[in-house]
Amino acid sequence: MRHSFLLDQNRIDEKDVTKLEKIGDGFFSSVYSGVYKNKRQKIPVAIKELNKHMEPQMFEREVNVCQLTHENIVQIFGWTKHEDKPKKVMCVPQTPTKSTPEQISIVMELCQGGSVDSFIAKCQQAGPGIRIRILLQTALGLQHLHSHGIMHRDLKVENIILKDPLSNASSYKDVKAKLTDFGLSRKIDRGIASRYTATVGTPLLIAPECFDSNTYDEGVDIFTFGLVILQVFAQTTDPDEIRTDDFQINPAAITKMDIPEQVKQLIIKCCSNIKNRLKIDEVVGCLQALDKFYNK
Ligand SMILES: Nc1ncnc2c1ncn2[C@@H]1O[C@H](COP(=O)(O)OP(=O)(O)O)[C@@H](O)[C@H]1O
Ligand SMILES: [Mg+2]
Repeated sequence: MRHSFLLDQNRIDEKDVTKLEKIGDGFFSSVYSGVYKNKRQKIPVAIKELNKHMEPQMFEREVNVCQLTHENIVQIFGWTKHEDKPKKVMCVPQTPTKSTPEQISIVMELCQGGSVDSFIAKCQQAGPGIRIRILLQTALGLQHLHSHGIMHRDLKVENIILKDPLSNASSYKDVKAKLTDFGLSRKIDRGIASRYTATVGTPLLIAPECFDSNTYDEGVDIFTFGLVILQVFAQTTDPDEIRTDDFQINPAAITKMDIPEQVKQLIIKCCSNIKNRLKIDEVVGCLQALDKFYNK
């Protein structure tokens, strides 16, 4: 694998990382809890072991998000590479030696509260206050990402995780949500030559402009974030229910849902056509107002 200077800078000696137990699974990886010995400190970490679906560019993008520090973005400490040394065969030197492929892992801040999809499955009785707070924090993480010229391109409830189990918080208002999984993230480039046409992300959540031949920008994250809000409040992203034939959102379908009125309006504005779609600062503003209202 080719490494950029930035990547080399973030390499961690595998001897300093101890793997403990499995805590999560994604399409591109298995995630374990562990400990990272950094100078004299022992830091609890999550170790994301990449599988064969992960391409080298995805790994590079994910590690490059290392440069960002924000309380609503999972902090990445660096990466390790494990290579099994070929065994020496003393008696039969001509026997070919076998080595297993290298194992690349990303070492990051451990978040023990699980992902937001399990939160909404487990806490169906949770009121709007905590849902808004989780969404506001996610939007703040996304705002930081966009303000540094990066779009996420794979927002979904599985990629938002909670720092601590809710039972440990003295009040749900202490909840801390963080954005993770930057394997599909890309630099936002305003230049014509390098704009994007690739349709990536989770099919049910993809913005309509990704399906046609036009190029797209960070607006795709806003559209998908609108669907994340819908998922957090109504547990659905069923296209038969909410999309029109050209993949746009059908506002009438959202309007008749049993969720707070201002939340419906926010979803519709996030998922409207590109021209009328909110920018991340406006999304944050709306969620801050809702947070004030529900979490006085
Ligand atoms: N830093 C972390 N702390 C705790 N659990 C995590 C962490 N990162 C990921 N996970 C868990 O592992 C799952 C898969 O991680 P993710 O980064 O989304 O991998 P993939 O790229 O394979 O989708 C997440 O949905 C989450 O449950
Ligand atoms: Mg994921």
